Amino acid sequence: MGLRNFITKVLFILFIINLQLHAQEITTEKTCVDCHSRTVKNKIVHGPTATDCLICHIPNGKKHPVEDEEGFTLLYEGAALCYSCHEEARDVYLEVKYIHDPVKKGDCMECHEVHSSNDSNLIFAKSPDLCYFCHDELESFIKKSKIVHTPATKEGGCVNCHSPHSSSIKKILLKNEKALCLECHNETIKVDKREISNIEKLIRESEFKHEALDDGCTVCHNPHASENLYLLNVPYPTKNYAEGTEENYDLCFGCHDADLLLLEKTKYATEFRNGEQNLHYIHINKKKGRTCVNCHSIHGSSRDHLVPETVKFGSWDMPLKYIATEQGGTCLSGCHKEQSYSREL
Ligand code: HEC
Ligand code: HEC
Ligand code: HEC
Ligand code: HEC
Ligand code: HEC
Ligand code: HEC
Ligand code: HEC
Ligand code: HEC
Ligand code: HEC
Ligand code: HEC
Repeated sequence: MGLRNFITKVLFILFIINLQLHAQEITTEKTCVDCHSRTVKNKIVHGPTATDCLICHIPNGKKHPVEDEEGFTLLYEGAALCYSCHEEARDVYLEVKYIHDPVKKGDCMECHEVHSSNDSNLIFAKSPDLCYFCHDELESFIKKSKIVHTPATKEGGCVNCHSPHSSSIKKILLKNEKALCLECHNETIKVDKREISNIEKLIRESEFKHEALDDGCTVCHNPHASENLYLLNVPYPTKNYAEGTEENYDLCFGCHDADLLLLEKTKYATEFRNGEQNLHYIHINKKKGRTCVNCHSIHGSSRDHLVPETVKFGSWDMPLKYIATEQGGTCLSGCHKEQSYSREL
């Protein structure tokens, strides 16, 4: 920062000298900033603005100021002006697959001040406000949602996950989605009295990982906000009991066949059966049915079929002794004494 301050000072001195030199070209003795003080009034002044207004504003020979007469022409129009100095930015922004619409159109000044700004990077406002300026639908969705993912809304917001310019990853994400999410969810996060578990560790240590994770995290979670607990895309019961309807488990049946729940007798719809008797049906398909979380750990588990070692029953971490066998399995838990099932009776 020391070097930057020094450069700023040098630029400022050059700037003053410059103004003296150019003063003659103006109809009065005033300098550009005497009349246009707004251009340099903010904390951070753009390098060239602090140096010489005429780098970008080329005098066209007319007297200035004259009402309704333009005294200057821009060196270049639109993004070409910016890229004329920020050459490497053009390569970074335009030579990747996914380019943010305003960047593609060259509308740099939809987000940036060209003269001076109170925010670093010469932006008009910090995100999310900067982004809400155009993404007003998302703004109202986030603001009306019950559960809000705070990395989206706290200062710095959206650019925690998105590039404002472009990316080689879809939705102009900074990283591949899974890596992006796990970058923060690699520790237990405390919010008020709650603890949000370390998903990265859980997945890494799980011998069996849910294959749904191959498609990323947003197949189940909304990255911004949601009406549903755990930012889930659709309602999903996470307590021990719920009515065993198909709609209640839409989250799962987006990928899995609902027959595993709906058919009382089956030879194919599920492996969780005793002969033809569907054990998913028996446990779940009733008014006060068991929920999936009683028997499956959604992200991953050390046990086959994503069966967890313990299940939350109120404040009790109830142990679940499940052993998968060739033809079925055996289960012992707080729910019932040891029971076995076999697909071949
Ligand atoms: C005596 C006051 C005064 C000085 C000195 C002055 N300007 Fe202006 N400038 C004005 C006024 C007044 C306008 C017209 C503003 C408007 O239309 O709202 C203007 C308009 C402009 C515009 C937009 C229209 C155009 O002419 O292209 C630019 C760019 C500009 N000035 C740049 C400069 C630069 C660069 C300098 C220094 C080299 C400078 N001005 C010096 C008063 C001044
Ligand atoms: C990096 C290039 C660049 C530099 C340096 C620069 N300007 Fe500008 N200026 C622009 C651009 C781009 C516009 C916007 C033109 C538009 O909106 O069409 C602009 C617009 C203006 C306008 C008219 C609109 C307004 O904001 O009031 C004035 C006046 C102006 N500049 C004055 C100045 C003065 C005074 C300086 C030096 C202190 C300066 N500019 C330095 C690029 C520059
Ligand atoms: C005449 C050359 C020139 C032009 C034209 C120019 N810039 Fe700059 N810009 C600079 C310089 C020099 C810096 C200071 C670089 C630094 O501090 O490392 C800078 C800094 C910036 C920064 C801050 C970067 C940071 O790291 O804080 C942004 C953002 C920026 N420019 C955007 C733009 C945009 C948008 C345009 C077009 C509207 C533009 N520039 C046009 C030369 C230019
Ligand atoms: C949608 C808003 C938006 C648009 C459009 C936009 N920028 Fe930016 N720009 C930002 C934000 C936000 C940052 C700060 C990035 C951060 O905090 O990670 C930034 C940072 C920068 C920087 C400094 C850091 C870097 O990436 O090198 C430069 C230079 C820059 N922008 C130039 C441009 C140019 C040139 C254009 C037009 C082609 C442009 N920007 C269009 C929002 C935008
Ligand atoms: C000047 C208007 C404008 C601003 C400001 C703006 N955007 Fe956009 N953004 C658009 C437009 C237009 C699209 C394309 C249509 C759409 O998806 O809404 C878009 C699309 C997107 C997309 C989807 C990209 C894709 O490939 O589908 C993301 C993500 C995004 N913007 C993030 C941001 C972020 C983050 C910010 C703030 C740093 C921001 N936008 C600020 C106009 C803007
Ligand atoms: C925690 C990371 C994260 C944060 C923070 C975040 N986003 Fe996103 N955003 C994503 C992901 C991941 C996607 C892609 C979702 C998908 O593909 O369904 C996305 C998608 C989008 C889209 C495209 C939506 C569509 O349907 O195509 C827009 C626009 C967008 N985000 C804007 C924003 C804005 C504005 C902010 C700040 C308020 C923001 N994002 C904050 C991760 C994030
Ligand atoms: C920049 C850090 C960061 C990133 C990146 C991030 N998160 Fe989060 N996440 C948090 C924090 C902090 C919380 C704590 C609760 C809150 O603030 O929303 C959280 C909470 C959550 C919750 C629990 C919400 C609740 O109230 O129960 C889920 C689910 C979640 N994040 C999923 C994701 C997904 C999916 C992604 C990737 C698209 C992601 N997170 C990326 C920081 C992050
Ligand atoms: C198949 C759907 C699905 C996928 C894919 C998924 N999750 Fe989840 N996630 C859930 C469900 C359901 C919950 C609700 C609580 C539970 O059952 O663990 C949850 C809960 C969470 C929580 C809150 C945990 C707590 O202790 O409060 C976080 C954080 C989270 N998921 C992050 C992620 C991340 C990061 C990814 C991607 C690597 C991901 N999830 C992928 C369904 C999914
Ligand atoms: C994005 C798609 C997707 C979603 C959503 C999804 N799954 Fe999966 N799930 C898979 C895939 C793919 C597999 C591996 C193939 C298979 O066994 O069907 C799998 C496997 C499983 C397995 C392990 C099967 C075994 O025998 O090892 C269980 C248990 C499971 N899912 C439960 C759920 C539950 C509960 C939900 C809802 C919270 C859910 N899944 C949501 C795609 C998904
Ligand atoms: C009472 C415990 C229990 C409940 C509740 C439960 N499952 Fe299962 N599930 C199992 C067992 C055990 C297996 C492994 C069957 C085998 O391969 O031997 C299994 C297997 C699966 C499979 C792999 C394919 C299949 O059917 O064999 C999927 C997918 C699945 N369950 C989804 C769900 C969904 C979705 C829910 C909630 C609607 C749910 N399960 C509720 C115990 C349960």
